Amino acid sequence: MTTSPSSTADRTQLGAPRAGGAGTLGRHTVSRIGYGAMQLERLHDDRAAAITVLRRAAELGADHVDTAQFYGDGYVNELIREAYRPADGVVVVSKVGADPDPGARLPIRPAQRPEQLRASVEDNLRSLGLDQIPVVNLRRIGTTGPRIRATGDQVVALEDQVAAMIALRDEGKIGAIGLSGVTEDELRRALPAGIACVQNAYSLVARDAEPVLRLCQAEQIAWMPFFPLGGAFPGMTHVSDVPAVAAVAESLGVTAAQVGLAWLLRHAPHTLLIPGTTSLAHLAANIAAGSVELPEDALAALDALPTHSTDLPIDPAGD
Ligand SMILES: NC(=O)c1ccc[n+]([C@@H]2O[C@H](COP(=O)([O-])OP(=O)(O)OC[C@H]3O[C@@H](n4cnc5c(N)ncnc54)[C@H](OP(=O)(O)O)[C@@H]3O)[C@@H](O)[C@H]2O)c1
Repeated sequence: MTTSPSSTADRTQLGAPRAGGAGTLGRHTVSRIGYGAMQLERLHDDRAAAITVLRRAAELGADHVDTAQFYGDGYVNELIREAYRPADGVVVVSKVGADPDPGARLPIRPAQRPEQLRASVEDNLRSLGLDQIPVVNLRRIGTTGPRIRATGDQVVALEDQVAAMIALRDEGKIGAIGLSGVTEDELRRALPAGIACVQNAYSLVARDAEPVLRLCQAEQIAWMPFFPLGGAFPGMTHVSDVPAVAAVAESLGVTAAQVGLAWLLRHAPHTLLIPGTTSLAHLAANIAAGSVELPEDALAALDALPTHSTDLPIDPAGD
């Protein structure tokens, strides 16, 4: 599934124009617009439809895909294994730091310990059918998160986790190390390991992670915000819900989601996007957002929008 030298700055390995232009993800040249596969959990009863979304993403020029073993307890990884061949040149980015917890109200649990990170890489290798996962994000789970929290032996020093990730990279099981859910201080402390990308929650309407974005920019690390459209969990603010974004979209003859994605691309040049969708129409629109030009007045209006927190009780009853 990983890229071979036949992809270029202009075209993906499948020959598609690069969605949003070319970007850098570790040692890979990728399109700036990729695909976040988490939403495919919702298509658990329609495998064919899920595979079609993955195939279409690559055909339209999105040549990196974000996943995790805990997306549908391996289901999403298996879809990726089935959908892509090495000749497609799709760079797979997975994450460790949580494990599936099937049957639980929230079907994931923290798995932060170094040996659990290693076991999760092995699970990902098996379900993805790969010898090496091109990029793996260490998903840090803090002690105060709204959705899942680390307690007891799950509170692990960053340095111990990064050492485990370096060992996995040295052994060739992962190609590059990314971080997710990190503070500016944590990113700074991990820099000596060589960090390919950072995934934190961030969008046009939720910009609390701006300092981490700026550090990524200074260090030439790919910034791959999750929830780039505002996310899909109840209580989160989606870019389409914000009247000022809708007004800009209407003036440009595009959709609010496209404005949100175009703003992210314009805001910081090292940004790579992983919007999630189960809809072929939304997928095409998200990739087309790479061609949306934001005039200066629209940009100024968008820059001035208030920012909403992503730190919401997504699972209010959860501990
Ligand atoms: N590192 C981490 O901890 C972490 C955490 C969460 C997510 N992620 C990754 O980040 C990816 C993106 O986050 P996300 O999927 O949660 O949120 P998102 O991309 O911000 O938003 C997805 C939501 O927006 C809708 N949508 C997508 N395109 C649209 C369009 N053009 N117009 C209107 N609505 C649209 C989707 O519904 P439809 O299906 O109806 O289009 C879905 O409800 C995930 O898929 C996952 O791979 C990583």
